[in-house]
Amino acid sequence: MTLRLGDDAPDFNAETTEGPISFHKWMGDGWAVLFSHPKNFTPVCTTELGYMAGINDKFKQRGVKVIGLSVDPLESHEEWSKDIEETQGNALNFPMIADHDRKVSDLYDMIHPNADDTMTVRSVFVIGPDKKIKLILTYPASTGRNFDEILRVIDSLQLTAEHKVATPVNWKNGEDVIIVPAVSDEEAKTVYPDGWKTLKPYLRIVPQPK
Ligand code: BEZ
Repeated sequence: MTLRLGDDAPDFNAETTEGPISFHKWMGDGWAVLFSHPKNFTPVCTTELGYMAGINDKFKQRGVKVIGLSVDPLESHEEWSKDIEETQGNALNFPMIADHDRKVSDLYDMIHPNADDTMTVRSVFVIGPDKKIKLILTYPASTGRNFDEILRVIDSLQLTAEHKVATPVNWKNGEDVIIVPAVSDEEAKTVYPDGWKTLKPYLRIVPQPK
């Protein structure tokens, strides 16, 4: 199934390293990051999972639950998790889906047969509290992802969901933002009484709203 930004994130039931879950129920009212791994006992995936476990608190602080997926069975996830802790210094602290029947992988189009017809690619889905898809990333098996970038995007998604702003190139939390073109100068005066910097009529810079 091809998924696009703004689509409903498909619900599913799955076996995970933390027991069976019903995805939407597991998400509750918060955000989620669902990310796939090509295969267990592979080097890049091992580094990714260890790193994600190390920064999971930063996702929690933002009200985001993290969940991984690999098409290998549950017993294999449990064996692999010992290697992850041993080599990366962090034990898994989020559930890993055992998608041995590829139900979830197919639902989220994580297998790209022209890249590989058995393993998933490295997909990342960020899903909002409304259960809509907010971000999709697809990386090849040979390239480990940058999970700090996912945190940065979540900061932008959460900010722009609350305020009529957009975030510029390489923006980081706390830096100046852009007033969206749909906001007139009249409206902007009421929202930003301290003013803003106009570089062009369509490019208005303002400090990040609280
Ligand atoms: C890895 O995680 O290291 C990996 C997985 C599949 C293909 C190549 C690398």
